[in-house]
Amino acid sequence: MAITKEDVLKVLFNVNDPELHKSLVELGMIKDIEIVGNAVKVTVALTMAGCPLKHQIKGDVEAAVRSMPGVEHVEVVLSTMTSEERAKLFGKGPQDEMEGIKQVKHIIAVGSGKGGVGKTTVSVNLAIALAKKGFRVGILDADMHGPDIPIMLGVTGRPLGSEGMLLPLEGHGIKMMSTGSLAGEGVPIVWRGPLVNKAIKEFLGNVNWGVLDFLVIDLPPGTGDAAITLANSVPLKGIIIVTTPQKVALSDVRRSIGLFKSTNVPVLGIVENMSYLRVPGAPNEIMDVFGTGGGEKMANAFKVPLLGKIPLDPAIRQGGDEGMPVALKNTGEAVEAFQQIAEGVLKQLC
Ligand SMILES: Nc1ncnc2c1ncn2[C@@H]1O[C@H](COP(=O)(O)OP(=O)(O)O)[C@@H](O)[C@H]1O
Ligand SMILES: [Mg+2]
Repeated sequence: MAITKEDVLKVLFNVNDPELHKSLVELGMIKDIEIVGNAVKVTVALTMAGCPLKHQIKGDVEAAVRSMPGVEHVEVVLSTMTSEERAKLFGKGPQDEMEGIKQVKHIIAVGSGKGGVGKTTVSVNLAIALAKKGFRVGILDADMHGPDIPIMLGVTGRPLGSEGMLLPLEGHGIKMMSTGSLAGEGVPIVWRGPLVNKAIKEFLGNVNWGVLDFLVIDLPPGTGDAAITLANSVPLKGIIIVTTPQKVALSDVRRSIGLFKSTNVPVLGIVENMSYLRVPGAPNEIMDVFGTGGGEKMANAFKVPLLGKIPLDPAIRQGGDEGMPVALKNTGEAVEAFQQIAEGVLKQLC
């Protein structure tokens, strides 16, 4: 008996997207089925290009179709959904009203309880790690009081305007917008709360980010206001919280959990920065300069993964100062830590 499209669809109805836990057919991910004799070719549209689960999806589809009686050859082709198809699946959000980020797939924020824990360092190196995997990435510097992104990304100059919108600057292939680039060096910027939020919205709506897989937002320090306002006005996919290994008071952790929970934005995970130091001259020896356990404690309290531990490494500071983020390098413990964090983030998002 000849194989029909309906037969194939019926079988594929039982194949679920591993993350969304819904049938690929229901999700509209089966784009095309071609049958020639005993050969079946299925085109699957992923929600995002380069999704790390693509091999699993491909394998599952292949196995399901191969199990059908009469099928001899199976070919699975992967494509990516258009933004319209994604909008249908995930619904229209505030993003669709913001011109500048219409073609941005995932907006993720990097936050911390306090300053100086390495929030900007994580934002920049995570962006680079994602870009190295072939994703198109941008960074929005929302830390208006300490706009360090241009320095850490090695970007100078001012953004140009085009058709009523600002064009982001670019460093190491990462698109970037920061008040630091607008005001010029050494110009003090004084922002009041409402202005900060207005500026962030301007940066999302009136900067032509173009097509991006990820827009990373470097949040102002403090888990509170900025994150909440941002979460309410921007379609954030999730927040990454950077902490140090110091003992964090459980009461502080609880408070920040409460704040983040009230935003309904998922915490994707915790990054512990400045976790340990490899003692120079004794590479097998590790020093816990800032104590231990802060990241684990935070991750446990939030019930989210500890995405990674970044060593205290002068190369990281130097990379930041010189605008050559350490994640650009090919090897090293810090580089691997950032790669691992990027993979953890990808796992949560597609
Ligand atoms: N793991 C690390 N090892 C060494 N220096 C680091 C590390 N993380 C951050 N730094 C340095 O610490 C300083 C503060 O980091 P930064 O990312 O600017 O923090 P934040 O954005 O949270 O204020 C910077 O000079 C940065 O280069
Ligand atoms: Mg910073």
